[in-house]
Amino acid sequence: GTNANQAVFFGLTQPGDKAIVLHTSHGGHISHMPFGAAGMRGLEVHTWPFDNEEFNIDVDKAEKLIRELEPKIVVFGGSLFPFPHPVKELAPVAKEVGAYVMYDGAHVLGLIAGKQFQDPLREGADIITASTHKTFPGPQGGVIIYKRFGETEEIAKLQWAIFPGVLSNHHLHHMAGKTLTAAEMLEYGEKYARQIIKNAKALAEALAEEGFKVIGEDKGYTESHQVIVDVSDLHPAAGGWAAPLLEEAGIILNKNLLPWDPLEKVNEPSGLRIGVQEMTRVGMFEDDMKEIAHFMKRVLIDKEDPKKVRRDVYGFRAEFQKVYYSFDHGLPLKE
Ligand SMILES: Cc1ncc(COP(=O)(O)O)c(C=O)c1O
Repeated sequence: GTNANQAVFFGLTQPGDKAIVLHTSHGGHISHMPFGAAGMRGLEVHTWPFDNEEFNIDVDKAEKLIRELEPKIVVFGGSLFPFPHPVKELAPVAKEVGAYVMYDGAHVLGLIAGKQFQDPLREGADIITASTHKTFPGPQGGVIIYKRFGETEEIAKLQWAIFPGVLSNHHLHHMAGKTLTAAEMLEYGEKYARQIIKNAKALAEALAEEGFKVIGEDKGYTESHQVIVDVSDLHPAAGGWAAPLLEEAGIILNKNLLPWDPLEKVNEPSGLRIGVQEMTRVGMFEDDMKEIAHFMKRVLIDKEDPKKVRRDVYGFRAEFQKVYYSFDHGLPLKE
């Protein structure tokens, strides 16, 4: 995924060009930032104005910023990504000032493939970059997907940036795996993506019922695979305390900056980010999300010994031993 972003920055921009990206505190990926691939390309990086209440890019302010800066590239998408970004609204403005519109779909590629999230190319993006191992459940790797944009020359520059710019040979050992995953997504992708989103909403609701502060209540919590929880009231080290403790209990997720956190809080950020795509693929449904929420409550709110909770977590997990939405096992049966 990062190589894909590098290739686009190499191919379509020059050092000194301006870029608008999502700030890491607002959920943007580190490769978009001045200290990541964008900065290393020498781009002058600006960040989208963000509306904390909406948990999204502020469209009116963003439109003004695009007109004021006239960037070479604007980047949508991110790592903390519960709601679709306003590509439809802002891509035409970016095009007016001559900017490329890139959409980093690393996280949501499988939801896009399953037609359950936004449709970036049809909404105006020129290029999608993505990982092949998040909601798209394949072997690790990156992809760049684009519809025809600009002149043949510009496309040739992008192709040169990929090879020999950031890659030499491609990795044949996971080509077959990727192909098979793509075929499985054609067959099962819509159902898989639909269940992922149902499970994410169910987990968010169950966590809220257990007493957690879950982000996005008035917007249905999430429209993606992610559930975001603010644990800053539970401990001074917040996510930096909660994530390792849950790991001791066999529940692996990550601590995450929330929009109101400064970057310096990266080790003790306010939030937890939970993705339900793997739990969904081993056949879990909404009721299972309630069990998971309860395990999390036992550790973080009731302060039970995580090792004790781990026995129950392992017992619960042992029931899910098959990979569904696959040619091996087809669709999971709902009990
Ligand atoms: C939005 C976004 N872009 C790019 C990446 C990088 O992907 P990869 O880990 O495949 O290099 C990530 C992953 O962490 C991401 O969340």
